[in-house]
This record gives sequence, structure tokens and C-alpha cells, in this order.
Amino acid sequence: MSMLKGKEIVLGVAGGIAAYKAAEFVRLLAKQEARVHVVMTRNGQEFITPLTLQTLSGNPVVTDPFALLEETQIGHIALADLAELIVILPATANIIGKIANGIADDFLSTLVMASKAPVLFIPSMNVNMWENKALQKNIRILAERGYYFVEPGEGELACHWYGKGRLAELSEVLEKMEDILSPKDLKGKRILVTAGPTQESIDPVRFITNHSSGKMGYALAKMARRRGAEVLLVSGPTSLPIPRSDIRLVSVKTAEEMRKAVVTHLKDCSVMIKAAAVSDYRPREISRTKLKKTDPSVSLELERTRDILGEIGKKKGKRILVGFAAETEDLVSNARKKLKEKNLDLIVVNDVTKPGAGFASETNQVKLLYSSGEVKDIPLMSKEEVSRVILDAVVSLLKQKSR
Ligand code: PMT
Repeated sequence: MSMLKGKEIVLGVAGGIAAYKAAEFVRLLAKQEARVHVVMTRNGQEFITPLTLQTLSGNPVVTDPFALLEETQIGHIALADLAELIVILPATANIIGKIANGIADDFLSTLVMASKAPVLFIPSMNVNMWENKALQKNIRILAERGYYFVEPGEGELACHWYGKGRLAELSEVLEKMEDILSPKDLKGKRILVTAGPTQESIDPVRFITNHSSGKMGYALAKMARRRGAEVLLVSGPTSLPIPRSDIRLVSVKTAEEMRKAVVTHLKDCSVMIKAAAVSDYRPREISRTKLKKTDPSVSLELERTRDILGEIGKKKGKRILVGFAAETEDLVSNARKKLKEKNLDLIVVNDVTKPGAGFASETNQVKLLYSSGEVKDIPLMSKEEVSRVILDAVVSLLKQKSR
């Protein structure tokens, strides 16, 4: 479930060419079941019609500076009180300048002044306007006062100039909104997450690996950062982009490299979550040249890799240690054994034979097994939602330990 579900969002649309993107933005918000109330400046209405935004949002669009929403209700105050988040997209140099300098001469600027809700600006304009010192000063003033921004991207602009000024990607805006609305209950905590598979070389062209895509670990890293934690993501080779630019990524290849990274950073963190699918075996020797296919069959001699979780379990001290178990049978008893042997606080078990669960899927279905013996069954949900449930459990474990 998105953080935006059921949230009262006021969307201010000012007069810039990117106003046309407000239509797609409203559609995306409606898809996430947010309640969207659009307010347009007079200039905004020159670029896109209120009818479009009214149809997409399912709510009346405010265009009149002196609008009364329902008979005697004073429009800007009612919406200012109702708003849980105000987003201004596109934010022009004009609206930014007005709000930074306390001017309230139309519905949108008056609403912002009257509201205690967080305000997020999504600027878009010509590159020279963006670089103008007056605008940059206004942005600094607003940022210092706790207003939020998603900065424009670089590229070819509608005015045919090239540079910074393009409206940020809408997915980035949604991410920022989730960020602002999320509780910051992991603030001050440092969390290490491992993700992805490992690769153990056989020869210069072949390796042993597994089906892990990294999605589960990357979702955990993203959600932990969203909740205010400082996150270090130790990742095996995946094709995923870093989930957020404010997450520290350490890329590794082999189980031994992952072990070294985890052991090195153990002292810096209070929580460790090991979602990586680490190879249990590696070839005893790596051939320096490509193995020839002359024999009808070959055998590889494998040796055990070191158990990272087991090692950390012995040295964890007061840290919270969360492991995963990828199981195909006797889920609970196998996972309980791992929980005990590795001295974990919590183990997340997934049945990797189930459709929609485990490796590479967008979703997962897990059970949480606590060291106290408690078992929680979690239904099939997206890996981000599973991460939210796991992090809720981590927050309660942290509270219990600090008592
Ligand atoms: O990456 P995705 O495609 O999203 O898939 C997610 C996932 C299925 C990989 C993930 O949900 C998961 O189950 N990860 C753990 C997979 C695994 O290696 O399970 P295991 O039961 O073999 O290992 C148990 C625990 O020991 C794991 O936390 C593992 O990180 C750890 N381990 C294993 C071997 C080793 N040498 N050192 C370890 O620390």
C-alpha cells in the first residue's frame, strides 16, 4: 500500500509549459488512491484547462482567487487545513518568489501561507531563469525554512535552450512525496542491507551464481532510507540501479568479498539485514584459462564459503540481526534452525517454489520468525510492502533492546 493512499494532496499548477505534465501527474496520484485537489493560478490556466484536471482528479478545480468551496466555506482556509501535502507542479520563478517573500495575492500563494502542511516545489523554467540569482536566493530562503524541492533535470528545454530547467521525472516526485509523508522512525540508525547474488568464478568466462535479482534487498534499502535510516547497501552483481542517490552502495562479486564488506562495516551499524543469496560453495580452484570442452563430462570440486551470518551472529553485541531463509520444504523448522544457529533476532522465510514469492519476482510472501518463538504469516505483497513489514519489526526490536 502506497503512503499516498487516502492522503489529501493539494496540487498547485502555475503558469509554465510543463503544466501539461500536471495531467499525467494527477492520473498517477489518483492511481495511488490519493485525494487530489487542484488549484490553478490564472497563468496556469493558459497552459492546460481546469476541465482536464477536474476530470482526472474527480474533484472541483479552484481557479477563482476568491473561491468559496461550499457556500460560505472560505476556500483557501478550508483547503489549507485539509491538505496533508501541498505540491506545486510546475513551480515557476514567480510563485517561488512570491512564497519566499511572503506575498499572498492569489488563491495558491494565500493557501500556502495559511497552511501548516509540508510544501513541495517542482520547478521548471528556462535555464537562464533557473540560474538567475534572485530565484536561487529565493530557493535558498525556502529550503532553509523547511520547504521541499525536487530540482529540475538537464536537457533540451521547450524554449529550445539546453540546460537545467526540465521538470523532474514524475516518478522522482512521487518518491519524494512518499519520503515526506513517511514516519522517520529509523532516524539516527545505521542499517546495513545485503542484496543480490554472488558470483564464484570457475574460469575466466564461467561462474556459479543463483537467481537472486537483488529486488528484495534493494527494496529494503530504499524503504529504510525513506524512514530516516542511514543505509549501506552491500550488493552482489545485479542489473538494478541504485535505489536512491542518498544510499551508500558497496558493490561486491564473491561471497568472500561480501563477507569482508560486511565485517568491515559491522562496527558502523546497529541493524543488519541479510537479504543476499550468498553462494554456499565455490570452486576449490579457479582455472586461469578457459576450460576446454574435450571430455564428455567434467566434475568440479567445490568447497564451502564462509557463513557470513554465522560469523556476525557471534560478534553482534547489541545489534539487531535479521537473516533471510530461502526454503523449498519444511519452511518453519529449517528457518528456526538457522535462526538459532546464527544467533538472529529475526528470520524472514520465503518459500521460493511458490509463484510470486522469492527470487526475481516483484512480490514476495514471507513468514517472520522471531527469536522469542513468535511466528507471523505475511500475505503476498510487493517487495516494498514486505520491506515495510520487516522494518516495522526492526523498529519494535530496537525499542525492546533499548528498554
Ligand atoms: O533478490 P531477489 O530476486 O529479490 O530474491 C530475494 C531472495 C529470495 C534472494 C531473498 O528473499 C532471500 O531469501 N535471501 C536469502 C537467500 C539465501 O541465501 O537463503 P539461505 O537460506 O541459503 O541463507 C540463509 C541466510 O544466510 C541468508 O540471510 C544469507 O544471506 C545468509 N548466508 C548464506 C550463506 C553464506 N555463506 N553466508 C550467509 O550469510
